[in-house]
Amino acid sequence: MDTLELLKSRRSIRKYKSTPVEEEKIQKCLEAAQWAPSASNKQPWEFMIVTDTEFRKKMAAVHPYAKFITESPVVFVPLTDPRIHADYHQSDTALATMQFMIMAHSLGLGTCWAGVINKSLIENEIKQMLNIPEKLRVLALVAVGYPDHSRTSSRKSLDSLVHYETY
Ligand SMILES: Cc1cc2nc3c(=O)[nH]c(=O)nc-3n(C[C@H](O)[C@H](O)[C@H](O)COP(=O)(O)O)c2cc1C
Repeated sequence: MDTLELLKSRRSIRKYKSTPVEEEKIQKCLEAAQWAPSASNKQPWEFMIVTDTEFRKKMAAVHPYAKFITESPVVFVPLTDPRIHADYHQSDTALATMQFMIMAHSLGLGTCWAGVINKSLIENEIKQMLNIPEKLRVLALVAVGYPDHSRTSSRKSLDSLVHYETY
């Protein structure tokens, strides 16, 4: 599959098979995240992989839009460190997360990003649950697993978005 096809065919997957995800695939996704670009190459991120059923159920219970993480055998939890780069910790870690998701898609896995708002009650509860150090932030809960449905999506037209030279 060429790169544009790969990018266009990735969908947010909200139904998963119970088939376990191979450890080698998770390692490849983590490596893809590790090699994301970051401002001044500061890499202000850490990554958690959560497979424990109880943790997944508890996280789903505190996040109103992430019920599917009870089904996905794996949850990728990208953490950001504002002490490493106060201005760019979130955008850098979002890039790493996207690289994880694209790699996962290329390996036949589905993902869905469930956003976690900075300093929200949800973030605090997840931090306590997973014993995440106070100074780190939770960027998202990303479901990972074999898709059990297929979806379509749409995008705004490029004509309505792109400006050449001046606005
Ligand atoms: C920052 C961010 C937060 C998101 N939060 C949620 C969420 O809480 N729950 C959910 O089901 N999907 C969430 N999504 C997935 C979007 O709904 C999805 O990417 C969008 O509808 C486009 O669909 P597609 O990914 O299949 O192309 C989030 C995506 C992003 C980038």
